[in-house]
Amino acid sequence: MKAKCRLYLIAVNQDYKGKGIGKQLINHLENEIRKKGLNLYGLSVRKDNQEAIGFYNQNGYKVEFENSKSIYYVKEI
Ligand SMILES: CC(C)(COP(=O)(O)OP(=O)(O)OC[C@H]1O[C@@H](n2cnc3c(N)ncnc32)[C@H](O)[C@@H]1OP(=O)(O)O)[C@@H](O)C(=O)NCCC(=O)NCCS
Repeated sequence: MKAKCRLYLIAVNQDYKGKGIGKQLINHLENEIRKKGLNLYGLSVRKDNQEAIGFYNQNGYKVEFENSKSIYYVKEI
């Protein structure tokens, strides 16, 4: 599967993490991607970023491949 678009960065202010804002940002992004007629997107994360990996695992992303430094995910929407 080759994604035609990728999420390059998502970040929530430290004081507001864990309140559902990241999920809202993802929902908004996915609606915009659907409007463009696409149903797949990808992203990558460094393996030392356990916080983001936890978030992606909870939010429907599937591992596409990994190397020594990073995990590459795709998500069908
Ligand atoms: C990753 C990030 C954007 C998540 O944003 P957030 O607003 O804290 O996430 P939410 O509160 O919307 O969480 C959504 C879901 O993910 C889960 N989740 C969030 N952080 C998690 C963690 N560290 N471990 C496991 N699950 C996590 C939540 O439990 C929630 O699950 P639910 O829908 O089953 O209740 C935020 O932690 C962040 O800004 N991190 C620093 C920047 C960064 O590393 N970005 C990624 C670069 S690739």
